[in-house]
Amino acid sequence: MFRITKKTLLAPNIYLMDVYAPRIAKAAKPGQFLIVRVHEKGERIPLTICDYNVEEGTVTIVTQTVGASTNLICAKEEGDAFLDVVGPLGRPSEFVEETLDDLKSKKILFVAGGVGTAPVYPQVKWLHQQGVDVDVIIGAKSKEHIILNEQMSAIAKNVYIATDDGSLGTKGLVTTVLTDLIENKGKAYDVVVAIGPMIMMKFVSLTTKKYNIKTIVSLNTLMVDGTGMCGACRVSVGEKILFTCVDGPEFDGHLVNFDEAMRRQIMYKSAEGQKLRKQEKESDESCQCEK
Ligand SMILES: Cc1cc2nc3c(=O)[nH]c(=O)nc-3n(C[C@H](O)[C@H](O)[C@H](O)COP(=O)(O)OP(=O)(O)OC[C@H]3O[C@@H](n4cnc5c(N)ncnc54)[C@H](O)[C@@H]3O)c2cc1C
Ligand code: FES
Repeated sequence: MFRITKKTLLAPNIYLMDVYAPRIAKAAKPGQFLIVRVHEKGERIPLTICDYNVEEGTVTIVTQTVGASTNLICAKEEGDAFLDVVGPLGRPSEFVEETLDDLKSKKILFVAGGVGTAPVYPQVKWLHQQGVDVDVIIGAKSKEHIILNEQMSAIAKNVYIATDDGSLGTKGLVTTVLTDLIENKGKAYDVVVAIGPMIMMKFVSLTTKKYNIKTIVSLNTLMVDGTGMCGACRVSVGEKILFTCVDGPEFDGHLVNFDEAMRRQIMYKSAEGQKLRKQEKESDESCQCEK
C-alpha cells in the first residue's frame, strides 16, 4: 500500500500529496510521471512526479479534481493509502541527458499554466541544483489559482505571473508575458518548456515558432494502460504517430498536432467515445502482460 504522508490544499480543487513510494522516489527523474489506482476497479490515473525525496522515500503529486477518479484521489486524507502507484513512467526530460556546459550556455524559459506549474517545479529544481538559472512564467485564472509561487521564486532566476483577471502580475495570458519579454524586455531564449492546458501549449508553441525558439511541451493526453499497448494516448508529432506514455510525455511543440490532440481529449465525452473507452479498458484488462 502507498500511504499518504502529507496532504495540503494548494488552490481551489488542487491538492498536493506526499506518498510513500521509496522505489519510485529512488528512480524518478524530472519529466516522468506515475499512475495511481485508488481501488481494485479504479481507473489508472497518470500524474506527474512533482518532487521526490529519496531519504524519506516519498514522491509528491499535485492533483486537480476534474472528474470521478481525480475526486477519489483528492478525497484521500493523510494516513490513507492508494492501492497501486506505478512508476516512474515515460521518458525523462531531454535536458537530463545534456552536459552541464551545454545547459549553462542556454537561456531557458518555463511556461506553466494552472496545475501545469506542478510538473514544471521538479524540472526547475533539478536545473537549479545543477547551477542552471532559468526564468518561469506562471499563469492562472486568478491569484487564488496560482500555485507554488513561493517555492518557484526560491529556485528560479525570475518568476513572472499572468492572471486572466489581473489579480496578480500581468493581466492577460502567459503568451502576453512571453511576447513582452521577447519584444520589449530584451530577453532572448534558446529553449522554452511549456506545460499546462493543451490550448495554452498550442499558443505558446505558435508564439515561439515566430521567434524560432525550440519548444518542448509535456502532453496530458488521456491514458488507459500507460504501457504503450492500448493506443489511447497516441499523438501525431510531425510525420510520426507516437504514444505519450512511452515516447513522451515531452515532445517538440512545433511538431505536435494540437488540434487533433484536443479532439482526442474530449472524444470520450460522446456516447460513441464512452463505448470506445470501455472497449479499450476491457482489452486492457484482458491483457495478461505484466503492468
Ligand atoms: C503524463 C500526464 C501527466 C499528468 N499530470 C497531472 C498532474 O500532475 N496533475 C493533474 O491534476 N492532472 C494530471 N494529468 C491529467 C490527469 O491524468 C487527468 O485529469 C485525469 O486522468 C482525469 O481523470 P478523471 O477520472 O478525474 O476525469 P474524467 O472523468 O476522465 O474527465 C473529467 C473531465 O476532465 C477532462 N480530462 C480528462 N482527462 C484529461 C486530461 N488528461 N487533460 C485534460 N483534461 C482531461 C475530460 O475531458 C472531462 O471533461 C496528467 C495526465 C498525463 C497524461
Ligand atoms: S496509455 Fe499509452 S498506449 Fe495506452
